Amino acid sequence: MKTNGTAPIKFYNGNQIPVELHKVRIVQKLHLKPIEERLTAIEKGGYNTFLLNTEDIFLDMLTDSGTNAMSDNQASSMLRADDAYSGSQSYYRMENALREVFGKHYILPAHQGRAAENVISKVFIKEGDVIPTNYHFTTTMAHIEINGGKVLEIYTDEAIKIKSDHPFKGNIDINRLKNVIKEYGAEKIPFIRLEASTNLIGGQPFSMANMREVREIADKHNIMVVLDASLIGENAWFIKQREEEFKNTHIKDILLEMCAISDLLYFSSRKVTSTRGGGICTNDKDIYMKLRDLIPLYEGFLTYGGMSVREIEAMAVGLYETTDDTIICQSPSFINYAVNELDKAGIPVVTPAGALGCHVDAMGFLPHVPQEEYPAGALASALFIISGCRGMERGTISSVRDENGKDILADMELLRLAFPRRVFTLSQTMFLLDRLQWLYDNRGLVGGLKFVEEPPVLRFFMGRLAPVSDWPQKLAAKFKEDFGDSL
Ligand code: F0G
Repeated sequence: MKTNGTAPIKFYNGNQIPVELHKVRIVQKLHLKPIEERLTAIEKGGYNTFLLNTEDIFLDMLTDSGTNAMSDNQASSMLRADDAYSGSQSYYRMENALREVFGKHYILPAHQGRAAENVISKVFIKEGDVIPTNYHFTTTMAHIEINGGKVLEIYTDEAIKIKSDHPFKGNIDINRLKNVIKEYGAEKIPFIRLEASTNLIGGQPFSMANMREVREIADKHNIMVVLDASLIGENAWFIKQREEEFKNTHIKDILLEMCAISDLLYFSSRKVTSTRGGGICTNDKDIYMKLRDLIPLYEGFLTYGGMSVREIEAMAVGLYETTDDTIICQSPSFINYAVNELDKAGIPVVTPAGALGCHVDAMGFLPHVPQEEYPAGALASALFIISGCRGMERGTISSVRDENGKDILADMELLRLAFPRRVFTLSQTMFLLDRLQWLYDNRGLVGGLKFVEEPPVLRFFMGRLAPVSDWPQKLAAKFKEDFGDSL
C-alpha cells in the first residue's frame, strides 16, 4: 500500500522532496527576534501559543485555519464582489460552486465551521443523545455537549498509535459502531459523524470503503450520516494516493462520491479554502427546512451568513481549486517531507504523515514530563523559545476536566505544526527541522507547565499557564551557549 503524500514528481537522484507548484508573487515580511525577546513574549502569553502576537513569531504553524495562501484567481475575484444584503450575485456564484464541487443542492451559509456545528447541534441533538464519530473536534464536542449530547469515539485501535503504517487511521471501527447502535438504540443517535482528515489524531484520513460501510449501517437503522468536510480535499487526495480503486480517479469525482455518501455536510471555509466562512449542504429538503430558520437568527441572511461578499467570491474560486491535484497536494507533500525527516532522525512523530500538519509526539519527546504537567503544551512553549516557530498544543490542555475537577488525560499529547497550503518554503521547513533536532538533543532541559488561569469552556484558547520551574531560562541559556548571537 502506498502511504506517502508527495506531489507526483520524481527526482533523477532519488531524492524525495516536495516541489512548490506555484510561484510566489506577494510576500509578507517575517520577524525572527532574539531569544531573550521570545522568552519575554511566551511569558507574557501565559505559555499558551494562542496568546502570542505574530510580531514575535517567525514561522506561524499554529493552524491552517484562515492562513492558507490565496491564489491570484481568488484575490482578483474579490474585486467583483456584489454588495447586497440579500440576493447578491456573489452568493449565487458560491452556491453554484458548492453545488458543483460537493454535489449538494441546498446550501446554508455560516460565518465559520463552528457556527454550522451550533446550528446542526441545536436542531438535531436532544438531552441524552449520543453521537458516534471517528474522533471529536474541540468545537464539535463543545456544541454537542452544550445541547445535552455525548460524543462516542469509535476509532480503530490503529488510530491512536503514534507509529503506524496504516493508510486510513481516521476510519470508524465498524464493529464498535454496530455495538454502539445495539447498546443505545438508533432513536438515541441523531447522526453518525465522520470527520475528513481527522484533525485531533494527526490529520488522518478515512477510506471510501469505510465510508461506504458506515452508510450501509446507517441506512439499516435509519440514522443520518453527517460529514465534517473541513479537510475534505486532503482526505480525497489520500484516497487517491492510498486506496487502489481510486488511483486513476479525478479528485473532483472522489469529492463528489464522499459528499454523496453523507446526508448532510458542513465545513469551515477557513480550511477548505483560505477565506473566513463556512456552510451546511444537503440534498434533503426536510433537513434543509429544519435548519434554515436558525441561519438568519445566528449567522445573517441566507445569502451571506455572516461572511463578507469579498470572502464569498474568494471562497467560490477556492472551492474549485480544491479539485486540483497540484493545489491540494501541496500541504500533504510538505508534511510528508517533514514527517519522514523527523522519523529518520528518531524524533517521535505521528506516522503515516497526514493532512494539516506534522504532529510531534510530546510524550515520546519529553518522557520525563508527567501528562498532568502538559507535555504537549510544554513542548510548544519550548519550540517557540528556541526557534520562534509557533505550533499548537493538541493534548490534555485541549481536553476538559471530569465532574471531580480532575484532568481527563488526552489519548495523545501532540504538538501540531501546521503547514498551511503554499505558505512555507522548503528552506523554512529545514530550519524548523534543524531546531527540532537541537531541542530533541536537549530535551532533558524542558520541564512541565501548570494552569494559573483556567476558563471553564475551551480552556486551551485563553487559559494561562506557568512553568513548574525555571526551565525556560535554562533552556534559553543553553541555546545561547550553542548558537551565540545567531537568531
Ligand atoms: N471541524 C474541524 C475538523 C476543524 O478542524 C475545525 C477548525 C472546525 C470544525 C471549526 O471550524 O474554526 O471555522 O469554526 N479547526 C481549526 C484548527 C480551528 O486550527 O484546526 P472553524
